[in-house]
Amino acid sequence: MKWKLLLLLFLTLACKNESSPPVKDLPVKGLITENAMVVSARKEASKIGSDILRNGGNAFDAMVATGMALAVAYPYAGNLGGGGFLVYRTQYGELGAFDYREKAPMSASRDMYLDEEGNFIQDKSQIGGLAVGVPGTIAGIFAIHQKLGSLPMEELLKPVIELARNGFVITEMQAERFEKYGPIIEEANGESSIFTQKYKAGDTLKNEALANTLTRIAENGRSEFYDGETAQKLIEFLNTHGGIITSDDLKAYESELREPIVFTYKELKIISMSPPSSGGICLAQIMKSIEPYSLRDYGHNSVKYIQVIVEAERRAYADRSYFLGDPDFIDIPVDTLISEIYSKRRMEDFTFDRATPSTQISYGSISGFEEYQNESTETTHFSIVDQFGNAISVTTTLNAAFGSKLYSRELGFFLNNEMDDFSAKPGEPNMYGLIGGKNNAIAPQRRMLSAMTPTLIEKDGELWMSVGTPGGSKIITSVLQTILNVYEFDMTMQEAVNAPRFHHQWLPDVVQFEPDDFSRKILRKLKGKGYTIDEGITLGESKVDAILILPNGKLEGGADRRGDDTAAGF
Ligand code: GLY
Repeated sequence: MKWKLLLLLFLTLACKNESSPPVKDLPVKGLITENAMVVSARKEASKIGSDILRNGGNAFDAMVATGMALAVAYPYAGNLGGGGFLVYRTQYGELGAFDYREKAPMSASRDMYLDEEGNFIQDKSQIGGLAVGVPGTIAGIFAIHQKLGSLPMEELLKPVIELARNGFVITEMQAERFEKYGPIIEEANGESSIFTQKYKAGDTLKNEALANTLTRIAENGRSEFYDGETAQKLIEFLNTHGGIITSDDLKAYESELREPIVFTYKELKIISMSPPSSGGICLAQIMKSIEPYSLRDYGHNSVKYIQVIVEAERRAYADRSYFLGDPDFIDIPVDTLISEIYSKRRMEDFTFDRATPSTQISYGSISGFEEYQNESTETTHFSIVDQFGNAISVTTTLNAAFGSKLYSRELGFFLNNEMDDFSAKPGEPNMYGLIGGKNNAIAPQRRMLSAMTPTLIEKDGELWMSVGTPGGSKIITSVLQTILNVYEFDMTMQEAVNAPRFHHQWLPDVVQFEPDDFSRKILRKLKGKGYTIDEGITLGESKVDAILILPNGKLEGGADRRGDDTAAGF
């Protein structure tokens, strides 16, 4: 009898071990506040946003200041020369989304990155003037401020201008990035700049040119960027660096107010970004597909948990490449894609016995997906909840690290390389290894498909979470796992953003894991079921910043351990 008990104990421990891979002793940076909070990629930006809230501003005011402060202190991704998305929920429960994604210039054409033989010249869509989409960030912040802000724009930009003028202190991580990207930036621009000098952690970086540009924007408003001195200087700069954006492109640019994607997962109501981002639809598809499975019983990061999620991701990303693009140009069957019936049908051929090869569920003929790049790519996310109950989730991007690497010394900011998010050639992977179809082909004034997934969540009719992350194609899967970590596995917000993650995106047919964070046994079992495992890739660029409303009404920040991310509030 005794040996039976011992055997039972052994089996229980063995099973537990399998479903609970080792989680490292992770640093805890989370903050709990009573009233309001900003979580962003830099402490200066979070503080400026939090100060705006403390001085009576609302989340939309804080968004303007935080976003612009990131352009100063986090030029890697924070921007004036890029674009983004914002999802909001007001204190009265009204929902909405702003789309200030970049657009293709009017003279852009479908085959602009192909050579005479029809080969995709990827450099052209990634570095230099031809890679730049018409920037949307300034249009976005003015539209958001006009509709929902409460303090004057000059007041919001004042601390940002001071930050640019007085400088910010470079962190260890930033010093490494400047060292890595400095020579590439110098080569792309054909000249040196403040971003091509050598820095060490602790040095102060001042950007007088950006302070001047922001001062003109504060004085003259939105038109300064799209039809004023800044516009004129920007066009001159782009013209001398191979760009095709004209003053007509800038004048014609408008941000859009869109309906967010809204769906339920068990008792949660999830509000996320609609096309031209794929984020909300893909997140909905994955969550509807995994909803019927007992994830909690399988255990966090267990074999069965990973399988269900990977298989749902595989199917959602395959649909992404086929169906999604700019909704102003194409019809997207949104309601079907995010429906329970459709998700069930997509998962019908899933079995725990073995992996479904991606080639079995792909659309059309696919080429070139064996090789994929994993260049570190950059976008940045921030979450804000204010003292009135307004909440926002914002993801903004230059696309790659420092975008196209083009930096206007006169204006003080980098230009995006968002054109690479188009499908330059059907079946050919972009820098994230994502395959696109004709729905995301380049066309004049079209917006390129994005994976950004700024998300807000309600539970029992009340605001529960604001969450999002940078990370290119890994954005959707990182947001997903962060939500599940809190909802299914009762982690705190900080534990949830810190927990090890994995990623799958249909093609390449590889499951990527954060190195050393998943047990050998689990990876061996997955291999045995036919999954190709890649542990060599860090998910360091997916730095989730989130806020959780605790049952007692306090706010808990989750600032990702993978970056310099910081929560601030009161
Ligand atoms: N540039 C990254 C994205 O929009 O998904």
